[in-house]
Amino acid sequence: MTVAVRLPRRKKDASAPEPADLLAWYDRHRRVLPWRLEAWRARRGERADPYAVWLSEIMLQQTTVKTVAPYYARFLVRWPTVAALATSDLDDVLRAWAGLGYYARARNLHACARAVVERHGGIFPHSIDALRALPGIGDYTAAAVAAIAFDERAVPVDGNVERVVARLFAVEEKLPAGKTLIKRLATSLLPQRRAGDFAQALMDLGATICSPKRPACALCPWNEPCLACAHGRQEDFPRKAPKRAGRLRRGAAFVALRADGRVLLRQRPEKGLLGSMTEVPGSDWTHDFDIATALAAAPRLRAKPKWRKLAGVVTHVFTHFPLELTVFVAQVPRATRAPEHARWVKLADLPGEALPNIMRKVLAHALDNEAR
Ligand code: ADE
Repeated sequence: MTVAVRLPRRKKDASAPEPADLLAWYDRHRRVLPWRLEAWRARRGERADPYAVWLSEIMLQQTTVKTVAPYYARFLVRWPTVAALATSDLDDVLRAWAGLGYYARARNLHACARAVVERHGGIFPHSIDALRALPGIGDYTAAAVAAIAFDERAVPVDGNVERVVARLFAVEEKLPAGKTLIKRLATSLLPQRRAGDFAQALMDLGATICSPKRPACALCPWNEPCLACAHGRQEDFPRKAPKRAGRLRRGAAFVALRADGRVLLRQRPEKGLLGSMTEVPGSDWTHDFDIATALAAAPRLRAKPKWRKLAGVVTHVFTHFPLELTVFVAQVPRATRAPEHARWVKLADLPGEALPNIMRKVLAHALDNEAR
């Protein structure tokens, strides 16, 4: 006679976050994003094109999903493969990137495409180490591409993921030092399978539910094991060391407008901030900029124009410092020649120029004033 013995069911430990709960939530609530496979294809085990994953991850650094989406679509139409991007002209890439900011990313994007073709025959490598060795690919991007494109067991930890994990475990150590612990804790949650979905589920949770302010904890698949939630201290995490705001820099920008509807532009040096981007001529940006001597930095034009200083300043905050530019405008005759290393560009062609946001603001300020 057999006796049915009922073994007690192993109870889920409510105090430990279960990766399966997050994945089940992701299966129902994942965001539809241009660089993601449709859910039915993902369910069949298909993976997204590594080139498209890499492109999206580079664009998404420090930039929102909404801003990236149209750029991403345009890049894929123009350069559908890594080989196409590798043979493109860097200036074309910079122009197509203009407006996304952090332009070193665009130059690295181009260099990385070339390196993938030269070192790996145009096939993205799977391993974190080989990915990490490519230009512009740091820890985060290597882990994101390895997980999302190849299902390698890696967790990319960006700001959203940091917040989720810091709250889940109530990590008291302050960022940036606390990042190592947060990475270790995130890795401890990795499921055996579906590393790519797990990474994107963490990103989606951080972007939609576990928001910086007033997170929607009632909707969170991990609200039970979340230590911050248990203590009502969600907004205390992640803890951050106070940021040192960079020192203000100031400078002058000169907008020369030619009678035939052109503006004088030049290219920034290849190395350094906004490298190779386009700008209007201007002074250096310094802590001790003196407006009294600003005109010394004006472009040398045969017409010897009268520069008009506009009221107010154009401001921009870079990662390391805030900037204030005083803008000068001058009208010059149609025959005025461009000085060395500068060129006259039709106003109608400005949208296609690789102008960083600060220069778009300067031009808007100048043209607004001239139109009045
Ligand atoms: N942010 C960075 N990478 C992302 C991704 N793959 N999906 C959604 N948001 C992201």
